[in-house]
Amino acid sequence: MKKNFYGQLLRPYQIGKMKLKNRLCMAPMDYYFFEGDENESRMTQRLVKTFEARARGGCGLIFTSCVQAEREIMPYPRALMFSAIDTDDRIKEFAAVADAVHAYGAKMGCELTMGSGRYYDIPAEGKPPIAPSECQTQYTPEIRARAMTQEEINHMITTFAQGVGRLKKAGFDAVLIMGGGGYLINQFLSPAWNKRTDKYGGSVEKRTTFLLETVEAIKKEVGNDYPIIISLNMDDLLPEGVSDHKGLVIDEVIQIAQILEAHDYVDAFAMRIGNYYNQEYIIPSTYMDNHLYRENIAKFKAAVTKPVIYENKVQDPSEMQRLLENNICDMVSMGRGWIADPDWAIKTVNGENVRPCLRCNMCLDSLWSAKRCACAVNPSHGFEFEGPITTAVKKKKVVVVGGGPAGCTAALTAAQRGHDVTLIEKDGEVGGKIQLICKPDYKAHEIAYKNYLKRAIDESDVKLIVNKAADVTYVESLNPDVVFVAIGAVPFIPPIEGVENVMLADDVLNGRKKPKGTVSVIGGGMVGCEIAYCLAKQGHAVNIIEMQERILMDASFVTVESQLAKLELPEITIYDHTTVCGVTASSVNVKNEKGDKKILASDTVILAVGYVGTSDFYNALNEDVREVYQIGDNRRARKILNATHEAYRIARSL
Ligand SMILES: Cc1cc2nc3c(=O)[nH]c(=O)nc-3n(C[C@H](O)[C@H](O)[C@H](O)COP(=O)(O)O)c2cc1C
Ligand code: SF4
Repeated sequence: MKKNFYGQLLRPYQIGKMKLKNRLCMAPMDYYFFEGDENESRMTQRLVKTFEARARGGCGLIFTSCVQAEREIMPYPRALMFSAIDTDDRIKEFAAVADAVHAYGAKMGCELTMGSGRYYDIPAEGKPPIAPSECQTQYTPEIRARAMTQEEINHMITTFAQGVGRLKKAGFDAVLIMGGGGYLINQFLSPAWNKRTDKYGGSVEKRTTFLLETVEAIKKEVGNDYPIIISLNMDDLLPEGVSDHKGLVIDEVIQIAQILEAHDYVDAFAMRIGNYYNQEYIIPSTYMDNHLYRENIAKFKAAVTKPVIYENKVQDPSEMQRLLENNICDMVSMGRGWIADPDWAIKTVNGENVRPCLRCNMCLDSLWSAKRCACAVNPSHGFEFEGPITTAVKKKKVVVVGGGPAGCTAALTAAQRGHDVTLIEKDGEVGGKIQLICKPDYKAHEIAYKNYLKRAIDESDVKLIVNKAADVTYVESLNPDVVFVAIGAVPFIPPIEGVENVMLADDVLNGRKKPKGTVSVIGGGMVGCEIAYCLAKQGHAVNIIEMQERILMDASFVTVESQLAKLELPEITIYDHTTVCGVTASSVNVKNEKGDKKILASDTVILAVGYVGTSDFYNALNEDVREVYQIGDNRRARKILNATHEAYRIARSL
């Protein structure tokens, strides 16, 4: 991979007066790296260092997540804790971000939003929801949003323009006006929510008035040269029944763009699809096809004259290159790829080993569950402020047993510290559980991660020993100072009558056992469902038997819908609320929650009811080696994120 192969991606570009070193953007992403709460959240050093790392990694144009310019009459959404540039004392916080990014020749843009209008979440005292027109709020149908008064419209426009003024003072290079995503400006543009009969509602021209007046006010505040990028939905994609109108479609979006261009009110467009009704269109999981709307973006690009930034949702640089070459867009915007590897651009250009995003959406999940964005494959995301890994004062002999994500992360991190590291793997190559979970045909990202780990170990100073099932004596013979036990978990085998007739999920996934005929899978968690999917695709009729109220209880709430959709195959029958009473050589005997019994004829029965950590190895070593750490699934069966994070934390401090 030579530099000129990605020539288009790397070619300098210009949006208005803003000169960019390349065509790569980092999409706006909320990390919750703020201090404060839903009433007020402030930028932190953690956030500054997050952006700085991506600037250092070669990104040309970086966007903040949504920032609000006004919180008095429109404080929503509150749960997302957006930062605000609503007073002058905030300027210095934003300046710290811009300065950090500029040091590496990147440009900094702020995604500025007018708030969420009818999308109303945590109520704020005395601040009822307001929207372009009176309508039902999105999540609390019993509460209706009130139509905004002219005074409120004026206030929103004025404060928004003042916000842009503060951004300019802070050294931000551009504003990205959030005109999509179902937010207030989108609601004004969309015939689904804008039913006004004054100058702001009716024809597409009138619905664009609010946005035009906003840009007009911005230009008065910051002058004609300040770059204005406007993000628009290519289609509102509203589910049926939420409005009497299906909302914006591409032809009207093009008209809006052309109106903006005719006024010379826009320097670039940032285009994507989706809103809070269908967040997975914006942030597709690994279980979901990309909803790229390539026809729409091509049509849009052909109809406008200003630069088009496109959220490609694919991390493949060759594909990005093709998009530019074929004039589908002028710049590409990537989100999670930058979380997974802040050095994405530099590594891509130099043909180095890029750590791929799994599209597992744990970053989103962790926003809600842990209130801080964490990445499954990049445990240093959000910890960039700690600085690079430094060489340890005392070089230690480190032995890592088990080459899954936990073991590889521990080995690579310890090697970066300069320790003498040996990694022992029982199989022929590293990957561990990844080898199993990458079996379904939609797991290209997992395969890429496995390849990444393999290459990273190969290129490191880690001494890799494969095909070696290490025992305690062997490990002790290496005379280690530190041992990481990362040998994974073992399948849980419940006390079911006839359990000797089952195949284990792992044996099927790694090809050691071949199911035949009709298959019943006991356990409707992620592993059971993935096996069911693979076998159904091979033509087997498959029953999934789950004792809880639904399958995929262990899946993240941000991906579960797309996982369920994958299982909508005629070959698959789901039995939830169903307990297994016994297994024979040709059937599974089950009963439902009412106690009704049933015999499910099955040529093969597969057990997939989870994994348990095992401590024997760890306990035995613990007696003789001074520093022993049990990490990953061996400690407790969990997600890749837990494995990589605990491995990294410990190895970084060795
Ligand atoms: C953790 C996370 C937070 C996000 N926050 C925002 C946000 O504040 N504003 C926004 O417009 N998009 C947000 N997005 C959507 C991204 O900008 C982007 O559209 C999405 O991640 C798809 O691009 P990708 O496949 O390259 O990641 C967020 C995405 C993620 C993963
Ligand atoms: S958490 Fe998963 S989806 Fe999010 S950036 Fe990391 S690997 Fe990608």
